[in-house]
Amino acid sequence: MLDDGEREKRGAIIESCLEMNRLGINQGTSGNISVRHGDGLLITPTSLPYDRLEPEDVVFLSPDGTPEGRHRPSSEWHFHLDIMRERPDVNAIVHAHPTYCTILAIMGLEIPPIHYMVAVAGGSNVRCAPYAIFGSKELSQNAVKALEGRQACLLEHHGAIAVGASLPKAMWLAVEVETLARQYHGCLPFGAPPLLSEEQIGAVIEKMAGYGHQG
Ligand code: 13P
Repeated sequence: MLDDGEREKRGAIIESCLEMNRLGINQGTSGNISVRHGDGLLITPTSLPYDRLEPEDVVFLSPDGTPEGRHRPSSEWHFHLDIMRERPDVNAIVHAHPTYCTILAIMGLEIPPIHYMVAVAGGSNVRCAPYAIFGSKELSQNAVKALEGRQACLLEHHGAIAVGASLPKAMWLAVEVETLARQYHGCLPFGAPPLLSEEQIGAVIEKMAGYGHQG
């Protein structure tokens, strides 16, 4: 039996899966989502249509990667587990195949500092992790590296990952990164876009720390 807290977390994962498809940042069951839970994590099952998911379908993964549940976990469980292990600041991970992020990732491009909002991903770029086959430990290692000091990365020939302290934050960032990718894609026909400097992005990061509702 699931307690109310765990049922709620599992429900939020399913709701977010449906939301990423509604928002147009994913299609079918290409994406997967996890949320930290106890010493492990809760993760979407592999290849099941989101609109048929029930809280009981979400899989628990222990820290050593042992699944508990009635389905197999997402094929991308390696990077979900490794990111949670390496990044104590991360409590939720959203992976999807957003069209514009994926176009850039196919071309092996990172998102450079074209717009000050690049800073919301933690620095002056959103890196693109080198290609490795889906579901592999190698892909996971590449993703963890691309996420160093960042909250998002692209995956070459694949898609994108956004992480956050909470699921709403990771979802929000996934949409922001897709927006940046779309803006960059829109600039490219004009030639190499002018970029903000490290210093300018640093100033944005500093200013953002004091932005919004305080306390
Ligand atoms: P899952 O259905 O196994 O989560 O895989 C989809 C995917 O995006 C693989 O990268």
